[in-house]
Amino acid sequence: MTQKIIINEVGPRDGLQNQSKLLSIDERLQLIRALVEANVDHIEVGAFVSPKAVPAMAGTDEVLQSLRGESENFSVLIPNQRGYELARQAGAKTVAMVLYASEGMAVKNVGMTKLRAEQDAEAILQCAKADGINVVATVSVAFECPFDGPTDPMIVFEAANKFLDLGVDNLVIADTIGAANPAQVAALMNRLVARNGAGKLTCHFHDTRALGMANVYAAVEAGIRRFDASISGLGGCPFAPGASGNIATEDAVMMLHAMGFETGIDLHRLMVASDLAETLTGAAPGSRAKAWLKPHLLKRAVA
Ligand code: COA
Ligand code: ZN
Repeated sequence: MTQKIIINEVGPRDGLQNQSKLLSIDERLQLIRALVEANVDHIEVGAFVSPKAVPAMAGTDEVLQSLRGESENFSVLIPNQRGYELARQAGAKTVAMVLYASEGMAVKNVGMTKLRAEQDAEAILQCAKADGINVVATVSVAFECPFDGPTDPMIVFEAANKFLDLGVDNLVIADTIGAANPAQVAALMNRLVARNGAGKLTCHFHDTRALGMANVYAAVEAGIRRFDASISGLGGCPFAPGASGNIATEDAVMMLHAMGFETGIDLHRLMVASDLAETLTGAAPGSRAKAWLKPHLLKRAVA
């Protein structure tokens, strides 16, 4: 039986938030629709953050309203209670909140202590449960923090277990700056899977040091069946120096299909979405897979 892997596309959020060129609401919607055309059905479509802190995410309420009713699996990032309120009012069905494995990142990203951010997240989770909104919790800087250095895996393990026990719908282990290596990924994910099962776990990798696909492979071997990825490798966090693009969706999908997994994604149409991401931003790093896939897919189409 073919095993399914879910790709949660984060290009329209993690990808665009760091671009020097600001996309219009219409352009952001074009990119999301191109991804939907490629059968990408889990998409982080924006963020309810301060428009002063992240101008690229201003107008996420309009994005969400245009997509209203299209998918339960469209999510929005929220940094705090205010973000949750705005997301709820705009009709979000899934919110993604952020936990911090280091003090430095919590302070730089949202101006809170790590503990305060965790308490806020617990309160948001209770509200979301009452409101019938799904919650994804991301443990950021899970392997290394650009301010505080290497992360103690116990901190990540305990935070993840706590929020899974509290009932989040999904728990993301995020290598925010692309510092993880496959041995670390295997060690952490094996422990998390042994305690919690793999059903609610996701891995989020950046390809800063070309270890992205190796880390995906290590996580797959540990049983992980859901990954964040960004079209054309767009990405990087404006508050985390050194963070370059996320793993490219094309690279991950190509590798996983070649390994016999099913993602439901149409690679042909994914190339169209990837080209669009490059055209719109003018700065997408592009994926390694595209140069290989384009001639191969073409050959298959005419054969
Ligand atoms: N959405 C929109 N506006 C928000 C907001 C939210 N979620 N939370 C706070 N604000 C507004 C406040 O109303 C206030 O507005 P004002 O200046 O018009 O009065 C302003 O932002 C500042 O709020 P304050 O509570 O003093 O927070 P801050 O200046 O320390 O900023 C955050 C805190 C969280 C709003 C800001 O750091 C942020 O948006 N960070 C986003 C981080 C991010 O997206 N990182 C990448 C993903 S991990
Ligand atoms: Zn990221």
